[in-house]
Amino acid sequence: MTTTIHLHTAFTVDKVDPRIFGGFLEHLGRAVYEGVYDPASIHADDLGCRTDVLDALKRLRFTAMRYPGGNFVSGYHWQDAVGPRDKRPLTRDLAWQSLETNQFGPDEFVQLSERMDWTPMMAVNLGTGTPEEARNWLEYCNIDGGSRYANLRREHGYEKPHNIKLWCLGNEMDGPWQIGHVPAETYAISAQQTARMMKMCDPSIELVVCGSCAPELPTYLEWDRQVLEHCRDEVEYLSVHRYVGNPDNDTEDFLAVTNSIDRQIEATDSVCRAVHHTRKTRRRVYLSFDEWNVWYRARTGEHVDGRGKFAPPLLEEVYNLEDALVAAGFLNSFIRHADSVKIANLAQIVNVIAPILTKGDEMLIQSIFYPIEMYSKRREGTSLQLRLDGPRYTSKQYGEVDYVDASAILDGNRLSVFLVNRDLNKPMEVKIKIGDASVVKLLDAEVVTGKDPRAANSYDCPNLVRSQSYEDISIEGGVATISLPPMSVYAGTLEIAK
Ligand code: AHR
Repeated sequence: MTTTIHLHTAFTVDKVDPRIFGGFLEHLGRAVYEGVYDPASIHADDLGCRTDVLDALKRLRFTAMRYPGGNFVSGYHWQDAVGPRDKRPLTRDLAWQSLETNQFGPDEFVQLSERMDWTPMMAVNLGTGTPEEARNWLEYCNIDGGSRYANLRREHGYEKPHNIKLWCLGNEMDGPWQIGHVPAETYAISAQQTARMMKMCDPSIELVVCGSCAPELPTYLEWDRQVLEHCRDEVEYLSVHRYVGNPDNDTEDFLAVTNSIDRQIEATDSVCRAVHHTRKTRRRVYLSFDEWNVWYRARTGEHVDGRGKFAPPLLEEVYNLEDALVAAGFLNSFIRHADSVKIANLAQIVNVIAPILTKGDEMLIQSIFYPIEMYSKRREGTSLQLRLDGPRYTSKQYGEVDYVDASAILDGNRLSVFLVNRDLNKPMEVKIKIGDASVVKLLDAEVVTGKDPRAANSYDCPNLVRSQSYEDISIEGGVATISLPPMSVYAGTLEIAK
């Protein structure tokens, strides 16, 4: 079977914002404690962070890193987690029914971010917190000195401001499970007040307001419209979240979910554009897809209930080959929508629905790690429009889809193509034809594939699903033909010439 992808270097979508390769670290389960921060580990560095985990995370080149939650943030008071460690209280986190020692807090997170070259993306508490508490935290972080909270930061040993530019106005406030969940208008008013105070404190910041966190909720899109009606001039981004799964063990259908991610982005963006035009606002609000992943196996019962313990094992999904293909599908969708999606955060980064697991001092790389690494390496440049002609199939839930899911990024004379072959049994020939240029040669390419969609890495067999370099390509008359194995993710960079 053959799929042809038609491109033209002038038919661009937009520059790919590097922040779509963001991550998310929440005080949840073993993400912070035993995940990134474990002073007792043989891998601990001077900050108490695990160098084995950090080295693996560096390979993913995360940009914006969202912190400290998540559902956790809706009951979080930042002042509990700053200053001398022996004075920090033990607190009870109601979102995940866990005990929080506050030994790792926002100041430590900023230090870690500097070390990792992450852009901190802080979420304030709009569940039980107030606009004033949020504004105080901003003063603590961004104001040089001379006033109460700025001076407090200095007393804590941080002379220079942290200068945090990206802030989220709460988390998933449309979700009935959220601490402090309220109707759209109530949230919108509080978000607007918080935004105003925060920007009065530091006008240089950018803000993300909570949009709909799941298409299944009855308030989907209507929530977004109401929130934007109130906050449109105060915020830069509207948040979008999405978790997907394969509870019916139907791989073909699961792989087609990318269709619905496209629709979710387009529908939410259409609300942003509609409010922009009807209200004649100064500028358009863009999308921050700040939680995305596969999450369905560890989503109920003991997996989400910490039973009052410190660092309980929660949301510890084990990822397989088909999940890696779906992760690549999310990234393709973000790249294809580079004109509206400016930030996206993989939820999350270690132990909790994550590409990396730890057990004692051991570490395991999961299947979804590889597509993220393969894409992130090739992320610089401009997304190109694609015209794709090839065989299709009809999925149960998501309608007709192409067997090949694709995206492309152009960076000078380097063209990176990202392909997912959703055919479970047959290989696919993919032809890359560029209207105004020729493919000269393959620079490098990698693939993740396998025969069993449920194959997953384990501590006994850690390399079952992984990327391998891949050179199965022919180039004739300026057209590249890539032979994709069945059930595969491919990322390759081609040199092109005009
Ligand atoms: O990422 C896990 C949880 O999923 C987050 O805490 C919450 O925002 C979402 O429901």
